[in-house]
Amino acid sequence: MTGAVAAGTGISPSLAGRRVQVKVPATSANLGPGFDTLGLALAKYDELEVSVPTESTGQDVPRLDIEVHGVGAGEVPLDETHLVVRAIAHTFARAGVPLPPLRLVAHNSIPHGRGLGSSGAAIVAGVVAAQGLLDGIVEFSADELLDLATELEGHPDNVAPALFGGLTIAWVTPEGPRHKKLIVHRGVSPLVLVPEHEMSTALARSLQPESVPHEDAVFNVSRSALLIAALIQSPELLFQATEDKLHQHYRAKAMPETDRLIRVLREAGHPAVVSGAGPSILVLASDPSERAAAIALVEASADTAWQALPLAVDFKGATVVNAER
Ligand code: HSE
Repeated sequence: MTGAVAAGTGISPSLAGRRVQVKVPATSANLGPGFDTLGLALAKYDELEVSVPTESTGQDVPRLDIEVHGVGAGEVPLDETHLVVRAIAHTFARAGVPLPPLRLVAHNSIPHGRGLGSSGAAIVAGVVAAQGLLDGIVEFSADELLDLATELEGHPDNVAPALFGGLTIAWVTPEGPRHKKLIVHRGVSPLVLVPEHEMSTALARSLQPESVPHEDAVFNVSRSALLIAALIQSPELLFQATEDKLHQHYRAKAMPETDRLIRVLREAGHPAVVSGAGPSILVLASDPSERAAAIALVEASADTAWQALPLAVDFKGATVVNAER
């Protein structure tokens, strides 16, 4: 972080009237073996506009005006506990700048509670919007943005692809989280299958054991290394590369239909995994016709309604689509 700002009350003259619009992709984390490490950005987006009013309120406590359209409308809180607001406040606090009054308008399309990174996207939207509002006042490095987002999300595998796009490897160091972005082979055709029911990440994480067998750890090291090669160079290896022994079977009892459909898909040769903490399924198909076959198989096998989303890989990550200062 560079730059300095004098603290004050009300709306800082340098912030008044600023407006920023950001667009953040959905993500699928884990990708099978890459638990808490690998993530893929997908071309489905939440859009957010944040503005600072021009007139001073003269109040110490920031006034918030929040509008939510699309996914989450009428459900998410419209106060300072809103995840985007928490991320903006967190970023301003790191910058040492008092939070000004804010107006937020969100247009969301990423399903909530389905393992598609909606909370990571909300956090990244807030962090990137705050960075946009603070443009020219305080600058954040890519590592600092990832650190800010990871502090709120708890692990970096969703927020890294939401921030940077593409396929990301994220890891944690004593100095904070780090990432490497990779470009996915053009033959990879992701398909996301989304059920009607939600799954809580907290519940999924509570089902993880304290320790795992050494041979299972070795199994996942081999598959996650192979998965990088498969995704960037050799899609024909995706089926073997998406095997996992570290999280999916521990969580299966909390999402039985997800578990059953993944078995059905894998028995038919499709590289299917739980998307993030579930309950959606990600199929890393190698071509569009494989997607169609996987959709037909799920339609024929599912007991409940599942929505099929053939999604391209997003290569940009969070983008500022418009800004006014
Ligand atoms: N790696 C995380 C998990 C992703 O599986 O718990 C969901 O936040």
